[in-house]
Amino acid sequence: MTPDPQWWRQAVVYQVYPRSFADSDGNGIGDLRGITSRVPYLRDLGIDAVWLSPFYPSALADGGYDVDDYRNVDPRLGTLADFDELVGALHAAGIRILVDIVANHSSNAHEWFRAALAAAPGAPERNRYIFRDGRGARGELPPNDWPSHFGPSAWTRTTNPDGTPGQWYLHLFAPEQPDLNWDDPEVAADFITTLRFWADRGVDGFRIDAAHLLKKDLSEPYRPVPTIGIVADYPDDGSHPLADRDEVHEIYRSWRRVFDEYTPPRVAVAETAAGPVRRARYAGADELGQAFDFDLLDTPWDAVAFRDTISACLDGARISGSSPTWTLSNHDIVRHASRYALQADTDLNRWLLANGTDPLPDLAQGLRRARAAAMLLLALPGSTYLYQGEELGLPEVADLPAEVLQDPQWFRDAGARKGRDGCRVPIPWEPTGPSFGFGSGGAHLPMPAWFSDYSVERQVGVPTSTLELYRAALRLRRELHAGESLTWDDGTEGVVSFVRDTGWRSITNMGSGPIPLPAGRILLASGPVPGHEVPGETTVWLQRTT
Ligand code: BGC
Repeated sequence: MTPDPQWWRQAVVYQVYPRSFADSDGNGIGDLRGITSRVPYLRDLGIDAVWLSPFYPSALADGGYDVDDYRNVDPRLGTLADFDELVGALHAAGIRILVDIVANHSSNAHEWFRAALAAAPGAPERNRYIFRDGRGARGELPPNDWPSHFGPSAWTRTTNPDGTPGQWYLHLFAPEQPDLNWDDPEVAADFITTLRFWADRGVDGFRIDAAHLLKKDLSEPYRPVPTIGIVADYPDDGSHPLADRDEVHEIYRSWRRVFDEYTPPRVAVAETAAGPVRRARYAGADELGQAFDFDLLDTPWDAVAFRDTISACLDGARISGSSPTWTLSNHDIVRHASRYALQADTDLNRWLLANGTDPLPDLAQGLRRARAAAMLLLALPGSTYLYQGEELGLPEVADLPAEVLQDPQWFRDAGARKGRDGCRVPIPWEPTGPSFGFGSGGAHLPMPAWFSDYSVERQVGVPTSTLELYRAALRLRRELHAGESLTWDDGTEGVVSFVRDTGWRSITNMGSGPIPLPAGRILLASGPVPGHEVPGETTVWLQRTT
């Protein structure tokens, strides 16, 4: 592993959603030993780091983002010793590890929340969360009408130990995820302890969940809040009472001091819905160091739109002095092989509610575009976050039946939103077996028969497979070792084309017809390149030969 403290600037980070990666004990839930057993796969893929979504004890009201204990491992996923073994195996393979820090809220099973419920209104135990009296003659109405991200209200009423109705508490997500009060010094101190706990165990960095939500303006009269979403439209000027408050940055400056106690300094990446300019503050060298650029997630398949989005993210990184972080998929959105198989204006939720049949996706087109887009991203300066399974070209499992759904979005919104389970189905390793090699005992979300064709085993060693394309792209990216600049080529309509400082040119033809292939030696292509043309929906990497 390179000792370079700047290793993260152009790293390829692979997101593992632990419950759906590999199941070593056959209980249907992926676990840490399962991940350890697949380290050779991750090494061969050629990634620089793994980001592990939460593996902490949790009742799974929100897929583990409801944390009962921040400094432990869910017994269904293993033990702290298993965690240490995983870190050792990854490091031995030259792969770093980032863990998820969920600081906006704990779970309602956290010992602090249980103590808060047992304590009287106004007690210090309640001050770690956000409790308020209700409105109405008997406090029967919520303190205000703020909506929760998962709908409907952001407030839930408690029951006192004697059975009478009590105060209300704030939860921007599910009721099982009470928001912590970041004005309480004990909360702030405890997260410092958590960061040190994992950094001392060898963790190289952190992904900070909902980083823009921690500080709130709860002064009264409460201001109306149309939406508090993770990716939402809110004023980009710090005026929202619940999101992207200026005060939040004090927290990250204090975390930076902790990161810098370590050699090399620990790194972090903010999940935030702030726009590119305000996002730059989270990504500053005195704060978290990086912030996700989610902008490509909803950029339509259009060369002008892609180039504009990429330019805005590069500008944002210039403001912060950080490097951009590109991503096409994660555990919260429909997989991009399916998004690209649909018209850009498709309402993805309605499509999921129709079990992926209306409209019918053009999966061949989706895969073609997904491969071309992945190569485009991997040619850009900055770091790229991959989501497990995208290297297999996996589409969304859009037809999960209602009875297997786990996502609180589905339950809280009374079936109006199908939620995110379709991208969280365990990934297929083998073409046969009850869970396609995920484990010996089935899978916690059903895996469709067509997963067979996408399995790792079917793709390894097949030169045209998506897995081999990712492997080749990651290997080349490492070898080409470009600096952080990019020069755009003059625009041919429908084409995104640029050159890196080492003469490495990436050309993505986003149109449907072919364009002439520029001069240069072909390094890699996302699809067949017959003759001297770049076919539609194809990316070609060239090395300038002059
Ligand atoms: C995570 C989601 C989670 C939410 C609440 C996010 O942005 O990525 O999966 O539901 O935070 O923790």
